[in-house]
Amino acid sequence: MDLIDLHPEPADIHQLVLEGMARQPRQLPAWLLYDAEGSRLFEAICEQPEYGLTRTETALLQSTAPALATALGAGVLVEFGAGNARKVGPLLEALRPPAYVALDISADHLGPACRELQTRHPAVPVLGICCDYTQLHQLPDHPLLAEQRRLGFYPGSSLGNFSPPEAQELLRQFSQLLGPGARLLIGIDQPKAVARLEAAYNDAAGVSAAFARNLLVRLNRDLAGTFDPEAFAYTAQWQPEHSRIAMALVSRQPQTVQLAGRAWSFAAGEPLITEYSVKYAPEAFLSLAAGAGWRGAGRWSDPAGDLSLHLLVTADS
Ligand code: AVI
Repeated sequence: MDLIDLHPEPADIHQLVLEGMARQPRQLPAWLLYDAEGSRLFEAICEQPEYGLTRTETALLQSTAPALATALGAGVLVEFGAGNARKVGPLLEALRPPAYVALDISADHLGPACRELQTRHPAVPVLGICCDYTQLHQLPDHPLLAEQRRLGFYPGSSLGNFSPPEAQELLRQFSQLLGPGARLLIGIDQPKAVARLEAAYNDAAGVSAAFARNLLVRLNRDLAGTFDPEAFAYTAQWQPEHSRIAMALVSRQPQTVQLAGRAWSFAAGEPLITEYSVKYAPEAFLSLAAGAGWRGAGRWSDPAGDLSLHLLVTADS
């Protein structure tokens, strides 16, 4: 097991927050949700009965791993945003790749996750790269990556947390990073009944709400904010015109908060968007991917048709 730390430049949170607060409606980058407490709360969301995405995708990966391995063929497996790397196990068993490379921004998660995976899969050399994969345009020089075809793995429907133009740009970047003959296995959550979607993002136990409010706690800590998290109501609404869930903290009353050295007024009912989660029907996703130079070469869905694993190949292969 090897680890490479690419020391991602600490993003200029101050500037990003100023830009986001100046937008109309106000919207902050979703990755700010994932400080240590936010990452813990996200793992708890994945276990809520209303949030089926993680369970459904994990079961689908387990049941289809042999078929996925055949369709992927040989190559080094590169996972984007591997987090705790708990989904890749069945694929490693079936594929037995020459190496597995996990990319993740969180050094705290990556080291332990890679070590645990290496113990469970001793035959597959594991390499962890601590980086912001949205900003990575080529993989570092490393013997495990030399002259090998690369297979991308991007589960969890995380692509939905980017706007469609950003998502398309990211898919284009993956193709560049993976190189000639690349393939990409990607999990995409699909539109479904509105009540189910809204419940998935606003669970009865209040974990989704706590996850969103933790953003205000983080801003108070990191940018000398004075938010009272309870002065904001959490909402998760399906916006059919954008095929997305919009998650927001809505000011319960007129209020002024200090943040990043400035005063910000909120009207009663004014939202601060914390995150979008775009849902793509298979055809819509394939057309987005085609615009980034990828072609659909296989699709596996759970029996209820809630989500799909798409296999993409570069258009010229
Ligand atoms: C990480 N991502 C795919 C989650 C989603 O479903 O959009 C983030 C999330 N936010 C609240 N609940 C889940």
